[in-house]
Amino acid sequence: MDTQPNRLSLYLHRQADSIPRYIWEQTILFCFGWIPTIIGVGARAIIYRLILRMDGLVAIENGARIRFASNIRLGAGVYIDEGVYLHACPRGIEIGANTYVMHHAELHVYNFRALPHSGIRIGKNCLISEFNVLRGQGGITIGDNVYTAPLVQMLAVNHVYDDPTRPIIQQGITAQGIVIEDDCWIGAGAIILDGIRVGKGAVVAAGAVVTRDVAPHTLVGGVPAKFIKTIDGTVAPRTIPVYAGSET
Ligand SMILES: CC(C)(COP(=O)(O)OP(=O)(O)OC[C@H]1O[C@@H](n2cnc3c(N)ncnc32)[C@H](O)[C@@H]1OP(=O)(O)O)[C@@H](O)C(=O)NCCC(=O)NCCS
Repeated sequence: MDTQPNRLSLYLHRQADSIPRYIWEQTILFCFGWIPTIIGVGARAIIYRLILRMDGLVAIENGARIRFASNIRLGAGVYIDEGVYLHACPRGIEIGANTYVMHHAELHVYNFRALPHSGIRIGKNCLISEFNVLRGQGGITIGDNVYTAPLVQMLAVNHVYDDPTRPIIQQGITAQGIVIEDDCWIGAGAIILDGIRVGKGAVVAAGAVVTRDVAPHTLVGGVPAKFIKTIDGTVAPRTIPVYAGSET
């Protein structure tokens, strides 16, 4: 049976790379993590360089929850909203320039088993929307200019469940990884499962569960997600207005 010290040690080792790092990171977060308004954003843009890597000016709102900060790298112009949870245990989290991570998104590497390919890498000019959950045990790689809608989940892990005589939690996991190529749009509530590659410029419709690779420039939707159409530039005349696209 676990002793209390073992549980304490387990807890601490799931918060930071070492005990001294835990104390250091938590001290910085405690002193500066709560400060609201532009004053707090400005203070964190300077002070958080002591605990994580920033390649330029980065905006981090108050109340962002950060663990294993030493494994986090943020590009210039990254925006981390309130309530975002970055848990960057070994192999870490990298977020490219000008990417926004919106409130209550959770990016959790979840590598507590020395997994070889874990990590979360997001390219530049992406939007990771509200309440997204990204679990990076097998590795999640997202290209540039990818937009996810609210409540998207990318789950780069599966439990092994073949043996009916043993609890599933004792049978191990598989973790192959997920790749979302450049210029994709993932609709609200979609779930991308482990081992999936979504090709460049593809669209995943709202509510889809993606169980097979998605070819570039196709629309898929449904549960399980099926091919709906190729995005080939053929556009039916629109009866509703289209507002300006992003300039970046
Ligand atoms: C896929 C989507 C973009 C519509 O694209 P569209 O090119 O206008 O497609 P259409 O509405 O013409 O639908 C084409 C076919 O796909 C089907 N379809 C559309 N959305 C679907 C969905 N979410 N799930 C399953 N099938 C869907 C339609 O029923 C239609 O099927 P049919 O040809 O058998 O009638 C839209 O339905 C969607 O899912 N949007 C995501 C919304 C969102 O997340 N917003 C947040 C923005 S960040």
